[in-house]
Order: sequence, then structure tokens, then C-alpha cells
Amino acid sequence: MIEKGAEIAPAKGKLGVLCVGMGAVTTTFIAGVEAIKKDLAKPIGSLTQMATIRLGKRTDGRSPLIKDFVPLADLNDIVFGTWDIFAENAYEAAMHAGVLEKELLVQLKPQLSKIKPMAAVFDQNYVKRLHGTHVKTGANKMELAEQLMQDIADFKRKNKCARLVMVWCGSTEVFIKEQPVHKTLASFEKALRENHKAIAPSMIYAYAALKSGVPFANGAPNLTVDIPALLDLANKNGLPVCGKDFKTGQTWMKTMLAPGLKARMLGLHGWYSTNILGNRDGEVLDDPGSFKTKEESKLSVLEYILQPQVYPELYDNFSHLVRINYYPPRGDNKEGWDNIDIFGWLGYPMQIKIDFLCRDSILAAPIVLDLALFMDLAQRSGMRGIQEWLSFYFKSPMCAPSLYPEHDLFIQLMKLKNTLRHLRGEELITHLGLEYYD
Ligand SMILES: NC(=O)c1ccc[n+]([C@@H]2O[C@H](COP(=O)([O-])OP(=O)(O)OC[C@H]3O[C@@H](n4cnc5c(N)ncnc54)[C@H](O)[C@@H]3O)[C@@H](O)[C@H]2O)c1
Repeated sequence: MIEKGAEIAPAKGKLGVLCVGMGAVTTTFIAGVEAIKKDLAKPIGSLTQMATIRLGKRTDGRSPLIKDFVPLADLNDIVFGTWDIFAENAYEAAMHAGVLEKELLVQLKPQLSKIKPMAAVFDQNYVKRLHGTHVKTGANKMELAEQLMQDIADFKRKNKCARLVMVWCGSTEVFIKEQPVHKTLASFEKALRENHKAIAPSMIYAYAALKSGVPFANGAPNLTVDIPALLDLANKNGLPVCGKDFKTGQTWMKTMLAPGLKARMLGLHGWYSTNILGNRDGEVLDDPGSFKTKEESKLSVLEYILQPQVYPELYDNFSHLVRINYYPPRGDNKEGWDNIDIFGWLGYPMQIKIDFLCRDSILAAPIVLDLALFMDLAQRSGMRGIQEWLSFYFKSPMCAPSLYPEHDLFIQLMKLKNTLRHLRGEELITHLGLEYYD
């Protein structure tokens, strides 16, 4: 465990943020950071840029910005690197994604056009709906991993980076369960050499990152780094990892509302969630294999928050359905509906309806920024292995095998801020507050 107030290496030099996949989320993130650097927009939705953290007593009046409290990389020190199966540069890809307005992108064209994706490690067996052309070839998966390691080393040298972090913003792969080859590093490496089908492309990127001394965050629900072999490698190399699946629209809502229902001991008969989405992510998720991975990630949150085993009268056997329908006219502007059948005093039924007209990548971009900066902070603080304090950002938070994941957004936020207080040697905040009345 990391000691209270342990030394944190300064954020000196450039930080390379390597995004796998340069689709809607990555381009919205990169263009957003460039726009913020030029003072064309504000970093809304980012805790590292906008949130404060209370220190000491409520009467102390100490609430610095998080970025002034812990040493984070400055936005001006970030350099972006990407891989994608399509060769278009970040300007073209952002235009194609259609999330941000053309007028804004045109102002950022000089910066964005320079970002050209490196050729991807891709296999259509894992993402059925995509046909890429900008793809590496090699005799086996180990050779592909070695090519990625070379990319990472070349990027670091060419861009004179002091440190790197990698964030998976690539498409959701088909559902894979943990298998024997994922158990140890030796069995994983053997499987890489033997082209075993249990090794998905995202695992090859994670392996290459961890072998190259680069922290890895997983923004999709794929298994990826959440296997014993890669967790061992992360621990052995002293590297932080976190995941899975950015918590943005409907699941973010769920992890705010469900704790509220449980807090008031209100029951749940059912929760029906449906979405229409028209971007490339929606198209990929139209494939049953990729949807299954997403569905597993979206379904688990209510069970963990509501604890039917502890409160069977309230939460036994509630129905929970999640649907995503690919509907091209909406593009990235998803619409998510929730119908929630609850019951109260004496069992009387009530309903809650939510219609969230959100923008998927607008919600995801600040998460990518925060994860990149916090993973770099974790690395400089000597934190290794699973970073549970970053659960706040994920639909399926990774946690120690002996634990269940914490999904409640408010507990997650407290965990995140208390971790920052711990790192800086400040008292943790318990919200007890009795001392004010003595
Ligand atoms: N709110 C959100 O947008 C949100 C929330 C949670 C999770 N996610 C996940 O984040 C990921 C990115 O979402 P998006 O909307 O940007 O999707 P997108 O389809 O616009 O972009 C994904 C990109 O990854 C590329 N890609 C696929 N496989 C690759 C590989 N092996 N190597 C390199 N590139 C590869 C694709 O070509 C594509 O350009 C998806 O998995 C999505 O499910 C998004």
C-alpha cells in the first residue's frame, strides 16, 4: 500500500497520451484539449481541470483546485499519439465523427492534421462490423506486440516525452471470458507466440504498454488488462492499470439514482433502459458479440448497488433490461430512455421516467483527460496494479479479485478524493462532523 504523504515525482517534461482507436471519443478528447489550450473553450466535465477538494474542517476554508493540490501534467505538456485501422488524420477523423462543429475543427486544423494514426493491430474476428486497411502484419501475435513496442519507443523518442500513458478508446471487442492461457505471464506469452484465439488485439496493446513501462487504462468493456497475467506484469513492472468501460450516459444516471432509491429503502420492480445511437460505436455494438460485452458491463451495476441478497423484500428478482439500437440519423447524439418501476410505503407502485438527450463523446472526452492525468500521477506516486480509486470513471470498475466492485458514484467520488488527500498527507474526510457541536 502506498504510504500517506509519500513522495510524488514532479510532472516535469512532456506527457505522451497514446490513444488506441481514433474515433469519436479520441478526436473529441484531442480537439477539446487543443481548443482549451487556445482558450476557445472550457474543460467542462473534467475534475482534474475544474473540481476543488476540501481539506481539513468545513470551517477552515481550504478548498484548492485538484490541479493545484496534486502535481498533474499541464495541458500544454501533453502530446498525442494514436493507432487506428483507418489512416485518416485527427482532423479528418474528427470531421468524420461529426461530434464537434466544423467551425471549431477548422480553427484547430493545423494541430489536428499533424496527428496521424500508427498502423493498428486488428483482427476482424474480434470486431465484426469493421474492415480496416491501416493494419500491421506479422507472423504471430508476439511479433505484433513487438511492433507496438517499437511504435511506443519511437513515439517517445521523436516527441521527446518524459512519460507516457495509454488509454484504450478503440471499438468494443466480442465477449471473451477469462481462460487458462490468461492465468500466468508465461502462458500468455506462449499464447501470443502460438496465435491463440483467446488473445484479443486489445490485450496485445495492453501487453506492449506494460512491457514498455506505460500505464494502461481501458475505456471499453473488453476483458483486455483484467486478466491475472497482465495484472502480474503491471505489478512486477510497478505500473498502474484501470478500467473498464467509461461511465458516461445511462449507466452514470443509474449509479446516481440507484443509491438514492436504496438510501430511502424504496423497492424496485424493474428498470428498462433503451438507447438509440447512430455513430460508429453504435454500428459496432449492433453486432451481438460486441453488444454482449457491453451488456454485461451495463447490467452489473444495479445488482451491486441494490444488494438484493441483503434486501430481498425490496430488490429480489427485479427485471433489468438494456437495449442499444443502431439508428444512424442520430449520429453521436444518443437518446437514452429509462423506465423505472419502483414501490414505496405499503408496496404502492410508482414510476420514474428519464429521457436523456446526451452526446456520447462530449461526456466521454473529459474522462479520457482525467484518466490520462491521474494515471500519470499514480505512476509518479509509485502506485501499481489496479487503481480502484478511479472506479468513478468506469461502468465495470476493476478491483481486487477478493472484492466486489463499488458502483455508487458518490462513494466512488469520496474514494477518489480521499486517495488524493492520502497522497498529499492530508486528513481523510469522513463527514462525521460531531466536532462542530462540542
Ligand atoms: N460515451 C462514450 O462514447 C463511451 C462510453 C463508454 C465506452 N465507450 C467505448 O469507447 C470506445 C470508443 O468509442 P467511440 O465512440 O470513439 O467509437 P468509434 O467507433 O468512433 O471509435 C473507435 C475507433 O477504434 C478503432 N479501432 C477498432 N479496433 C481497433 C484496434 N484494434 N486498433 C486500433 N484502432 C481500433 C476504430 O477504427 C474506430 O476508429 C468504444 O469501445 C466504446 O464502446 C464509449
